[in-house]
This record gives sequence, structure tokens and C-alpha cells, in this order.
Amino acid sequence: MQKLEQLYEGKAKKVFKTDNPDEFIIEYKDDATAGDGAKKGTIAGKGVINNEMTSILFPMIEKAGIPTHFIEKLSPTEQLVKVVTILPLEVIVRNTAAGSISQRLGIPEGTKFDEPTLEFSYKNDDYHDPLINDDHAVAMKLATREEIAQVRDMTMKLNEFLKDFFAQRGVDLIDFKVEYGKDNYGNIILADEISPDTCRFWDIETGEKLDKDRFRRDLGNIEEAYQEMLKRVEN
Ligand code: TMP
Ligand code: ASP
Repeated sequence: MQKLEQLYEGKAKKVFKTDNPDEFIIEYKDDATAGDGAKKGTIAGKGVINNEMTSILFPMIEKAGIPTHFIEKLSPTEQLVKVVTILPLEVIVRNTAAGSISQRLGIPEGTKFDEPTLEFSYKNDDYHDPLINDDHAVAMKLATREEIAQVRDMTMKLNEFLKDFFAQRGVDLIDFKVEYGKDNYGNIILADEISPDTCRFWDIETGEKLDKDRFRRDLGNIEEAYQEMLKRVEN
């Protein structure tokens, strides 16, 4: 397959057309932003790590019964994926309070939830990805009621898989964000990435943060944390 023109450049990835109308190439970048792009930087080796981690996890997720856009890894920073139209929804699962839910609702960081808590944000930088509910998503025609139910089921199943996978590697999955897309045949499938950019990972023993919060909060040892997470996923 041939890499053709760039379709889109996001904060962490670029998307390219190919000569196959059902396939895109995604290229992962080292660029990192936080706080809606207010803070900008690079994390050396991030593109390679996030591409590799997603390339390991997505086939396992597929096997666990959740369809994904992933086809194959092509190079250290590139992967081949199915063409999808991304639903403009950030789907967030929280097992433990951290980040924006702690700030917004005053729940101390580290408070464990009895059940996973699911949130939707409207993916739109102009409005700073605001938190919305199911009715808002339907009213705005971001997805149908049935699609939202499907996304919720897939995400809860994904959380169970990921929680176990990371726990076996000494990592507490605090929360994560995923995105879904609709393929050329109308199926809703998991898209985007699963990486330290999009999850909060705390070491089970020490509580050490092994994710992008090290960048967001200027905690240092950012590259080391990403490397450590890749090492654990590869084991
Ligand atoms: P939050 O606590 O800032 O709402 O983040 C919840 C989870 O979503 C956390 O694992 C980080 C991830 N996330 C993204 O992947 N992209 C984003 O733009 C934001 C704000 C959070
Ligand atoms: N994607 C966010 C931004 O807008 C960063 C984050 O993950 O917090 O910069």
C-alpha cells in the first residue's frame, strides 16, 4: 500500500490517505500538549512508544471481543488502520478519582469508585471538550441512542480487559479516554490510541505516576515513565 496525502494533523498524530479507500496510515508524533494546547512540548520517543503500545494492545482487545480500527504496525511510528469517521465524543472511564473529576467535584485524588464511572466529552477544542450527557450527544446528533448504548457496553468491557491486563503488570488503571469511529460499512469500532497519553497509570506498589501527568504537572522523568510502561506492556 502507498502512503498518499496527509488528511489531518492532530496534537499527537497525523493521518494519511492510502491507495486503499478502506485504509489510513497513522503517524505518531513526539509532540505533547496539555490544558487545551496551552502547554506545549515534546516527549522524546513518545511516538515510538505510543505506536508500539497501541499495536500490542489493540489486537488483544480485538481478541477480547471489541472490534478496533487497527490492522498492522508498519514502522516504529506508523500503523495501518481501517478508515473511520471519528465520533466527536471522548469516552472517559474512571476507576479512581483523579484529574478533572477531582477538580470539578472536590473528590480527593485516589478515591476509589465502587463502579467504573463513564463520562462523555464533546470533542471540540473551541469549546474546550466540554463534559456532556447522553441526551446532549443525541440532541447534537453526535451519535444515536443505540450507538451510545453500544459505545457504553464496549467501553465497560474494554475497562474490564484493561484493568486486569495492567493489574497483572503491577499497574493500577486509574482512568482512560478512548474514541470510536464508524467504518465504511457503518460499524462502530474502537479507534485512536491507548497509551500513557490517554490513560492514568499508577504503580500498584508505590503509587508512582507512569503517564502523561508527569508532563502535565511537571513531575520530571517523563521519558522514563513512558519507557517503563512500554516495558511492562511488552512483558
Ligand atoms: P481528565 O481527568 O483530565 O478529564 O482526564 C481523564 C483521562 O482522559 C486521563 O486518563 C487523561 C485522558 N485525556 C486524554 O486522553 N485527552 C485529553 O485531552 C484529556 C483532557 C484527558
Ligand atoms: N489533549 C490535551 C490538550 O488539549 C492534553 C491532555 O491530555 O491533557 O492539550
